[in-house]
Amino acid sequence: MTEIPEHLLKRSKAAKSGKSGEADAEAPASSEASSTPVAAEAAAAPAAATPAADLPNLDPEPEPPKPVPRYVAAAMARKKIPVWVLPVIAALPVWAYAFAGTMQQPEVEDELLIQAAELYTACAGCHGGNGGGGVGYQLSEDEVLKTFPEPINMMVHVARGSDAILGEAYGDPDREGGQRVSGARGRGPMPAQLASLTQLELEMVIFHERAILSGEDTGTPAYEEWIEHMREGIEAGDSEPIDLELLLACADPVRSPGATGEGAPDGETCPGPPAEEAVSEEAAG
Ligand code: HEC
Repeated sequence: MTEIPEHLLKRSKAAKSGKSGEADAEAPASSEASSTPVAAEAAAAPAAATPAADLPNLDPEPEPPKPVPRYVAAAMARKKIPVWVLPVIAALPVWAYAFAGTMQQPEVEDELLIQAAELYTACAGCHGGNGGGGVGYQLSEDEVLKTFPEPINMMVHVARGSDAILGEAYGDPDREGGQRVSGARGRGPMPAQLASLTQLELEMVIFHERAILSGEDTGTPAYEEWIEHMREGIEAGDSEPIDLELLLACADPVRSPGATGEGAPDGETCPGPPAEEAVSEEAAG
């Protein structure tokens, strides 16, 4: 093997290292060349901004938003009123007016309704809580009004009960389904109320059955007078007993067997709505 003289080896080494040293030196140079424009640009930007910063700022400082008061924030956070409420709000005054109207009715009338309904509980066991019937006839849905188009003959029948006229016809002779015959229901008697009710109570329970259970028109002047009379009786604590003779004098013999149809004697008045028609032409003739 040939020995390479030492100095040659050194030169070769030096050359190699020199070459690589040249390459090493070249790389940074090229990277520097490529990065220079970027750097220049970056350097230019602040330089361009600098003069503007020296100019007086003519725009007023944007004011920081004022802190929203708590109650305003709460109002904004609250659920908004739905649209459908608007017509309701618009209708409120009308409703208030109507409501105020109902409030003007004297409390005494409520007292009449309450006491009349209470009295009816004694009848409800046989005639149904709403008058739908049971052992006794149905009173609701105009059934009792068909038997007794006027209250006075009903007062007579309830007061003396069905046994007092057993087998006899009573009530409207033209009743749908035929005139009633006492005892014909075959479910026992309608118990007499002469000892159980005062005259005022008799009127009130009959008022309940007719006006409340059967929806009789209470708007006529005669009916309003009757209601007024009952209110006054309640206020005065009226406890007069039932006067069957007076009832029979006021009732119609065709609808109430044994009635005279003469009308109330002097100084007395027939109970119920003051309607002369309660005494029929048949009775008069
Ligand atoms: C024990 C059950 C009973 C009770 C309580 C009772 N009734 Fe009757 N009621 C009858 C029966 C039964 C008849 C039908 C009797 C018949 O066959 O004639 C009747 C008939 C009537 C009629 C006639 C109806 C029609 O169309 O012919 C009236 C009105 C009436 N009752 C009202 C009342 C009132 C008002 C009360 C409460 C004060 C009352 N009843 C309590 C059982 C009852």
